[in-house]
Amino acid sequence: MRAFLLDQPASTLDADQLRQFGVLHERLAVAERASELARIKRQHGYKDEDEVSLSTDTPNLEAICAKFDKEHFHSLDEVRFVVEGEGIFDVRDKSDRWVRIFVEEGDLIIIPANTYHRFMLTEMKKIRCARLFLNQDGWTPLYRKALASTT
Ligand SMILES: [Fe+2]
Repeated sequence: MRAFLLDQPASTLDADQLRQFGVLHERLAVAERASELARIKRQHGYKDEDEVSLSTDTPNLEAICAKFDKEHFHSLDEVRFVVEGEGIFDVRDKSDRWVRIFVEEGDLIIIPANTYHRFMLTEMKKIRCARLFLNQDGWTPLYRKALASTT
């Protein structure tokens, strides 16, 4: 995981600084995925789990990515454990600044409910993630108004 303020690329934010605006990050062993994710589920009360994979082989990749690369939030936590590949989450901090978070294999990230964010693939265009859910009810992305700043 690497994180920095998007308008200050030389900055570096660690997991403690992410936690200050509600984003949780942990490194987990991919080889111990089942037990590690069971622990995270117990800790946070998540019930459901599935896996999502995006790559250049994914049909309609651009259309899928276009749903998530615009600023939005969910009414439930967004929980991703990267099993393979890498990706970029931009998350708004408490001052409404973008924090850019690169995630790669072994990174668990929890973006809290009702927190604006967006997701992009990297140049690699490949990511496979386990997703954990409290339930499926809050999963529709709710987009920020078009007039709001996206930079
Ligand atoms: Fe999202």
